Amino acid sequence: MATNRIVPFFNYPAVFGSDEQALTDIFVDVGRRGAFIQQRDLDEFERRIAKFVGAKYVLGIANATDALHLAMRAIGIGPGDEVIFCSHTMVATAAAVHFAGGIPVPVNCGADHLIDPQAVEDAVTDKTKAILPTQLNGRTCDMEAIQNIADQHGLRIIEDAAQALGSKFKGRCAGTFGAAACISFYPAKTLGCLGDGGCVITNDDDVYNKLKQLRDHGRDESGEVRLWGLNSRLDNLQAAILNHKLSHYEAAIERRREIAKQYDAKLRDLPQLVLPPSTDSDPRHFDIYQNYELEAEDRDQLRAYLEEQGVGTLVQWGGKAVHQFRDLGFTQQLFYTDRLFEKLLMLPMNTSLSNEDISYVCGCVRGFYANESSNAAA
Ligand SMILES: Cc1ncc(COP(=O)(O)O)c(C=O)c1O
Repeated sequence: MATNRIVPFFNYPAVFGSDEQALTDIFVDVGRRGAFIQQRDLDEFERRIAKFVGAKYVLGIANATDALHLAMRAIGIGPGDEVIFCSHTMVATAAAVHFAGGIPVPVNCGADHLIDPQAVEDAVTDKTKAILPTQLNGRTCDMEAIQNIADQHGLRIIEDAAQALGSKFKGRCAGTFGAAACISFYPAKTLGCLGDGGCVITNDDDVYNKLKQLRDHGRDESGEVRLWGLNSRLDNLQAAILNHKLSHYEAAIERRREIAKQYDAKLRDLPQLVLPPSTDSDPRHFDIYQNYELEAEDRDQLRAYLEEQGVGTLVQWGGKAVHQFRDLGFTQQLFYTDRLFEKLLMLPMNTSLSNEDISYVCGCVRGFYANESSNAAA
């Protein structure tokens, strides 16, 4: 069958092209001011993100991986400390614990692909120091359950909210529940810059003061070096670009939620799929749909068929949960996650998509399963 439309999974040139003049003007403005490192655009961005999520402090960091790693160090995670995280996440989540000297302990996710509170409870030992839930795909975990476990065992919470800027649980934004959290501004993120970028969110004065030094060679405001630090500041140019994009962010989230509603309406009757929670399925959650990750029977065949039809899809993390990277030393058996990873697939989800694109994608998915059942009947 001839392809009548191309729907890439993500279209980087289109994202730039749709805003080319404004982005070029920002580049020229920042360049003419020579405002490259720790300038007013970064200060303004940090203040605006803090206000947006309802937190006391935000610090721009070079990327979310560094943000998590430095946050681990700022709360005092060190050699021998166990930190429990969900294996359905980017390897960066575990790397942050590793580079702070701690031991990352992977656990299963639940049916909504987020960390399973019971699995967390089961993994707590006398070496556990923190819980590190990933607010995956733009959805915030049941933070009440996570908080209860943390309180019961005296553990800190650090959120990997790389994918969840503006996502809420019970009206409270991801990134504001624990001692600290990270957000990623990688170009394909809901708020993406033109390269790498990230930030830490915290309400804790001590964590904030340490992180400010950790991201800047360990220096305090007088230039005195107080601790071993990194060079991991968010570039001022990226902050200026993000300031511009932040002004349109709420509309971008609304559009993502609208796309999710369209996928839901057009695909929910297919018994071969398990769709992500719909926008109105649970009033405690406000999801921003960083990704539209579903479970599909015959996932690999569906994916190949969609590619033939011009539809780009993605299997997150290259198809492996973190505990499956055995070269990193993981030995845990997580059967639920292993089985889930045979079915996971992400459909295109971004603001470059038109309603016609969504209809086309859904038509192709339906076509695949219709062909499958007529082949089975023949
Ligand atoms: C869940 C999660 N954690 C951490 C990261 C790392 O973010 P960054 O690429 O900004 O370092 C990502 C980025 O994809 C992510 O999705």
